[in-house]
Amino acid sequence: MAVRFRAATIADAPLLRQWDDEPAVIESDPKDDWDWEVELARTPDWREQLIAEVGGRPIGIVQIIDPAREETHYWGTVAPDLRAIDIWIGAASDRNRGYGTEMMCLALGRCFAPPAVTAVIIDPLASNVDAIRFYQRLGFSLVGPRRFGDDECLVLRMERPEWMSMV
Ligand SMILES: CC(C)(COP(=O)(O)OP(=O)(O)OC[C@H]1O[C@@H](n2cnc3c(N)ncnc32)[C@H](O)[C@@H]1OP(=O)(O)O)[C@@H](O)C(=O)NCCC(=O)NCCS
Repeated sequence: MAVRFRAATIADAPLLRQWDDEPAVIESDPKDDWDWEVELARTPDWREQLIAEVGGRPIGIVQIIDPAREETHYWGTVAPDLRAIDIWIGAASDRNRGYGTEMMCLALGRCFAPPAVTAVIIDPLASNVDAIRFYQRLGFSLVGPRRFGDDECLVLRMERPEWMSMV
């Protein structure tokens, strides 16, 4: 069954909090508090928060940001015309079934829809070897290690020509 996106709303906060307690989600993002009740109540133009549904059932979330315009400057000084993606699937039973690949393909399509966007970046924890393999299989290339706060991450990047060769 195909994955579809819809905009996340404040009504999704309890489900997102439930997913935040899943062991694999904690492991992939140990310290972050996404402050759902606050963040879902606002829609800044540099961000999309999208719930992925299969047959109308929510399975995961994708966040797409413009890292140069994101308010906390998490990515530091970055070029304009990039996008950064966060993704997770809530329940273990919904992972390793191809949904994440479908979600990323949909998300990349959205990221590259504006012609000005040159590349998409992503920052899994260096310890998250499954996610790193997943991104590389999708066509992301390794940029290198980078520390974000206390988190040792690996930055990966997909350039527009790579995406264009796949669609
Ligand atoms: C990372 C994540 C988003 C990937 O999504 P996913 O749905 O599990 O990914 P897919 O199912 O598309 O691909 C994962 C594996 O399942 C395999 N797979 C895909 N479809 C399959 C199917 N129908 N049957 C069996 N295996 C399948 C893929 O080949 C892939 O194998 P690999 O690990 O050897 O590369 C998801 O696992 C997740 O949310 N993990 C926890 C949080 C997390 O780590 N988020 C990323 C933070 S950077």
